[in-house]
Amino acid sequence: MTDLLVSDTTTDTETGTTATGTAAEALAAPGTTAPAVPFRSIHSHLTQRALRLQPTSTAVRAAYNEAPFTPIPAVTEAIASAAAGLNLYPEGIGTLEAKLAAHHGVEDLGEGCVVVSPGSGFMLHNLAIATCDPGDEVMFGWRSFDAYFNAAATAGAKAVAVPVLDSGALQLEAMAEAITDRTRLIVLCTPNNPSGAPLMHADVLDFLAKVPSNVLVVLDDAYGEYATAEGVVDGFALAAQFPNVAVLKTFSKFFGLAGLRLGYLIARPEITTGIRRISLLSGVSTLAVQAGLACLEPASVAEYEERRRVTLAERTRIESTLVDQGFTIYPSQANFILIDLGEKSDDFAAFSAANGVIIRSYGEDGARYSIMLPEVNDLFLEITEKWQVEQA
Ligand SMILES: Cc1ncc(COP(=O)(O)O)c(C=O)c1O
Repeated sequence: MTDLLVSDTTTDTETGTTATGTAAEALAAPGTTAPAVPFRSIHSHLTQRALRLQPTSTAVRAAYNEAPFTPIPAVTEAIASAAAGLNLYPEGIGTLEAKLAAHHGVEDLGEGCVVVSPGSGFMLHNLAIATCDPGDEVMFGWRSFDAYFNAAATAGAKAVAVPVLDSGALQLEAMAEAITDRTRLIVLCTPNNPSGAPLMHADVLDFLAKVPSNVLVVLDDAYGEYATAEGVVDGFALAAQFPNVAVLKTFSKFFGLAGLRLGYLIARPEITTGIRRISLLSGVSTLAVQAGLACLEPASVAEYEERRRVTLAERTRIESTLVDQGFTIYPSQANFILIDLGEKSDDFAAFSAANGVIIRSYGEDGARYSIMLPEVNDLFLEITEKWQVEQA
């Protein structure tokens, strides 16, 4: 995909484009005066301009890998009843962390092996701060989740972005070769965003044998619940086996609570203790704690399992329809599908938005559709069909 990228500047997050323009540089450069225009406005402007989007008020957003389902009643009820206690600082964080450990069956890692944060993106910042001094290196595959650049920048670290394979899978051998004595943190996104390619357990084992024990390897498992292929990496088993492996998870995807901001790290207590030491005090809200607890009730988990079944069935249907329509896709193990459109990615994204579905373009690296409810998926597949007819 792209060339090896080593950068100590900032890049936009998932909710925007890769910003390498002057505004982003001005904001990132130490000692410069921030422009008068607030960052969010620039961000939104860049996004709209880059994609040439003209979304109508009825356009559906299928661009950020959000869950298309609204929160389950147990969660909205928990939030509503917790609202009456918002005069108090949050309680129950320890209970939520213990229940998460039980939910994932990782209690054997040791007491305190789960630490929560306001979103897993925020935890990435904590991880970079905890592991890096200025000038140290944070390594990840590229393309992958944009926020890894931001995390590195937070700690004054260099972002070392190792190109992924043509299949969109992380190139573990090249990553092992790129390790230097300044490497402190390696983030492996699996399934990778935006390609949807997962890592295989055996390959990660080989990789870990080449990683020095003072380097923290974090498996970003944001989409792990959608990885159903045989042999995909089992991060919890690796965290039990290797003291320098951690698993990063979120309530934003499988639990469909992206707006709530709740994520967590699973690792041995030596690591989670270090993270707690630098974590924002009371950073996770009462509403997030109570909603998180409600998600873990057995009846809730059963509802989420049903939603996952819908998403997985839709993934199969969309992938096979796109292939039948003549598209080249990256086979996905996540809740999104990257379509290989080469230099037409931006045009296709604009076409899709104009026809009612906003997706994310990655320039020459493709356009990504986040799997929605069946009716929206139907609409998207009509749009793709129409595009092919117009291109013929
Ligand atoms: C790979 C990956 N990790 C983490 C996140 C961030 O999730 P959160 O909402 O928990 O910050 C995302 C969001 O899209 C993602 O794609």
